[in-house]
Amino acid sequence: MMETVTIHLKSPPDRTYDILIESGLIRKIGSDLQAHQSGNRYFVVTDTNVADLIGKEFMGLLRAAGIQGDLFAIPAGETSKRWKSVSRITERMTTFGLDRRSAVIALGGGVVGDIAGFAAAIYMRGIPYIQVPTTLLAQIDSSVGGKTGIDTDRGKNLLGAFHQPTKVYIDPNLLRSLPEAEIKNGMAEMIKYAVIKDPELFDTLNRHSSQILRLEASLMTRLIARCCEIKGEVVEKDEKEGGLRRILNFGHTVGHGIEAASDFAIPHGAAVSIGMAAAAKLSRAERLIAEDEAQKIIDLLRQYRLPVEVPPSLEWTRILGHMKSDKKFVDKTPLFVLVKRIGEVFVYDKLGLDRVEAVLSDRH
Ligand SMILES: NC(=O)c1ccc[n+]([C@@H]2O[C@H](COP(=O)([O-])OP(=O)(O)OC[C@H]3O[C@@H](n4cnc5c(N)ncnc54)[C@H](O)[C@@H]3O)[C@@H](O)[C@H]2O)c1
Repeated sequence: MMETVTIHLKSPPDRTYDILIESGLIRKIGSDLQAHQSGNRYFVVTDTNVADLIGKEFMGLLRAAGIQGDLFAIPAGETSKRWKSVSRITERMTTFGLDRRSAVIALGGGVVGDIAGFAAAIYMRGIPYIQVPTTLLAQIDSSVGGKTGIDTDRGKNLLGAFHQPTKVYIDPNLLRSLPEAEIKNGMAEMIKYAVIKDPELFDTLNRHSSQILRLEASLMTRLIARCCEIKGEVVEKDEKEGGLRRILNFGHTVGHGIEAASDFAIPHGAAVSIGMAAAAKLSRAERLIAEDEAQKIIDLLRQYRLPVEVPPSLEWTRILGHMKSDKKFVDKTPLFVLVKRIGEVFVYDKLGLDRVEAVLSDRH
């Protein structure tokens, strides 16, 4: 059954959009675009892996619906999220003759979504774009909320723009070809949503892990919709990260430090998982959460075979060093998202880095 989540962004201009979620949805995108969108041309940005898997089929489906489109693939991986790709994409958009009535379609994971969204944000001062996310992380996180951007030598996502998509089409069937490591990246974010906002989702993740890890279609459709709804609720209240949106960074302050300290050898999901376990430990040490509640978070992460401890080869001093240079540190005060109970988190600024190091390296 199709699920629809509407993101209401009414501050002028009205940028409200729908997220459609259904197994097999990929086959309906062409006709839906014809019925609802006013785009005269579509420029599909993807990466080389996704192009090999579904590029031909996707373009064939668009053509069958009477849509002329052009496909452009960037090399797969984070290293493509750079200015040079934006420049190649926008040059191709110019050659293809895209104008302000045209639209970009991002067909891929978060890398493609961020870069295609950014190209759409700056091309002719902004043209519409549509997200067709193909990784679990992109389906529950990066395709929703309108953050677009690229990396620079100085760090991740340092250049970017807020630019909301006009529609998001999510087909959970596409997840079947994802490597296990990418499923784990997404599961870490799903657990994050449960901890920050939804004890019922937490319970479902706890009770149905084997069906979820088998990517059972109807259950995944419901879970993806719920995650989009949670992210949507936060984004609706705080589109440009003035405050509330920070709760989406639960596990990420420490997680980003771990990713950077490992020179990105530790995948994002694993780093965020260790970060969420760290946040649970810090919350417990500060007596903000009950012992058994904090343990439940750590146990759920373990159930999804996500790590909860920093590998011995990484030192906390190195991780904290990277955290200090994080752009999320306001005036060098670390802002941690800590947890009161499953479903309720808050931003906490009373933790000095010394205390963080002592708790996390078990010396408190
Ligand atoms: N804009 C936001 O709000 C936001 C939020 C979170 C993350 N991000 C960004 O998202 C990026 C990470 O996204 P990601 O984890 O999707 O990584 P990704 O886009 O690199 O995709 C991961 C890998 O999966 C492959 N892949 C994609 N779909 C596939 C499929 N259906 N089957 C098989 N393989 C497939 C890709 O080619 C790639 O090799 C980061 O750059 C991060 O900064 C953005």
